Amino acid sequence: MAFITFEGMEGCGKSTQAKLLARALGSDAVLTQEPGGTAIGRAIRQLLLDPANRAMSAEAEVLLFFADRAQHVAEVIRPALAAGKIVISTRYVDTSLAYQGYGRGLDLDRIRSVAVLATGGLRPDLTLFFDLPLEVGLARVVRRGGRDRLESEVREFHERVRNGYLELAAAEPDRWIRIDASGSEADVEARTRAAVEARGLAPSHGVR
Ligand code: TMP
Repeated sequence: MAFITFEGMEGCGKSTQAKLLARALGSDAVLTQEPGGTAIGRAIRQLLLDPANRAMSAEAEVLLFFADRAQHVAEVIRPALAAGKIVISTRYVDTSLAYQGYGRGLDLDRIRSVAVLATGGLRPDLTLFFDLPLEVGLARVVRRGGRDRLESEVREFHERVRNGYLELAAAEPDRWIRIDASGSEADVEARTRAAVEARGLAPSHGVR
């Protein structure tokens, strides 16, 4: 049983890498995501990402992300951990600290108090930060087409988010590993596998 989170900016490849790791872990793994890891969460996700919702306040935004997360923890993450699975989630509390805290300027300690309410204090065993120069990630997002409400934020916002991730990772080196997300999918997959193995969370079977 372990809880691993994948973090990073848009276009960093974390979702692809999460899928690859889950596949390598086979039936031991449960792959999930925020926002939108549950039916209720998918409805919340639509509200959050709809470009029409320009009027959303930063406080409403963070609480909606945590509403999604509270449901996700209760319905998916805790039951899977209780069943002995390795849960891999793309995004978790650290995304809110990076985006709503460092990005939007909300107070980090207040966000952490909401996190206690939403998650009951559940923390990841390992957090992988897929780091890529801003231009590369944003260019990938543009190629993918259609920017959602957060992807449309100005460059300075994304810079603050990236710096936030770096500070969060530096503050808790036992939990975080920064992964260079540049290069081919296979290169990044090898780095991801090495990081997971270095923390003793190696796939017990099903390795390709
Ligand atoms: P995704 O691109 O990983 O699907 O995430 C959707 C967007 O939501 C992405 O721009 C990051 C943002 N987000 C936050 O701002 N705060 C959060 O707590 C979460 C989970 C996502």
